[in-house]
Amino acid sequence: MRIDYSRSLRIWHWLNAIAVSGLLLTFFLRKTFLSWRENSAVIVDKLSSLGVEVTAEQAKIVAKAIRAPMWEWHIIFGVMLGLLLLFRIWIFWQEAGFGYEDEGESIHMQLVHWGYRILYFILIFMAVSGVLLNWHEAFGLSKELTHTIKEIHEFVAWTVVVFVPLHIAGVFIAENDDQRGIVSRMISG
Ligand code: HEM
Ligand code: HEM
Repeated sequence: MRIDYSRSLRIWHWLNAIAVSGLLLTFFLRKTFLSWRENSAVIVDKLSSLGVEVTAEQAKIVAKAIRAPMWEWHIIFGVMLGLLLLFRIWIFWQEAGFGYEDEGESIHMQLVHWGYRILYFILIFMAVSGVLLNWHEAFGLSKELTHTIKEIHEFVAWTVVVFVPLHIAGVFIAENDDQRGIVSRMISG
């Protein structure tokens, strides 16, 4: 079990929670309320009932334009995540490692710590692939490669979708079990 969380790690943790939540929220909005597939069908349908005929292609352009300002937030939170990971690497150097005390720990706690290590790799992958996607032209990436990166970025995103509720549930259980005060220690040290 970790005894204390440094001020840097605590600030990092909550800013990171905001960035990742924002990234997941924009992902959710893109797939639901602001989905161009669904909204372009609504645009065709409603305009048609008003006597205005537009093609599916035209409606798609409008639906994507409506989605665009929301998706800008994916990039804003994405850049925030990228900077936070650099901050996390700096903390890692400062504290000479993760600070997990695995020796003599239960198998359960060792698995929790491995879960965090893997999550850090996943977040680094998401940030690197996201930056490559957003600035693919500047990096001179081909259309095919950009498409492949996008597919992997989207696939790996699901591991983050799974991690967040599991993490919150795990912390909630630990708080009510043998690690009382774990959440307030992540807030006030
Ligand atoms: C309300 C939401 C959240 C609560 C209450 C919470 C609480 C906590 C607590 C108490 C710990 C310490 C657990 C331990 O020592 O094993 C922790 C660690 C951690 N949390 Fe969260 N968390 C939340 C959201 C998130 C989110 C959204 C992320 C996004 C990826 C995240 C990533 C992490 C990571 C990476 C660690 C390990 C830090 C380290 O030791 O290096 N947390 N969290
Ligand atoms: C935890 C981190 C992240 C998650 C969970 C996530 C999730 C996703 C998902 C699911 C998609 C596919 C959306 C779709 O096509 O329906 C996507 C696309 C994308 N993401 Fe992320 N992302 C993350 C981090 C980032 C970062 C750090 C950046 C860049 C700074 C970024 C930039 C992009 C871009 C440019 C696209 C392609 C959008 C398009 O083709 O129009 N993402 N992301």
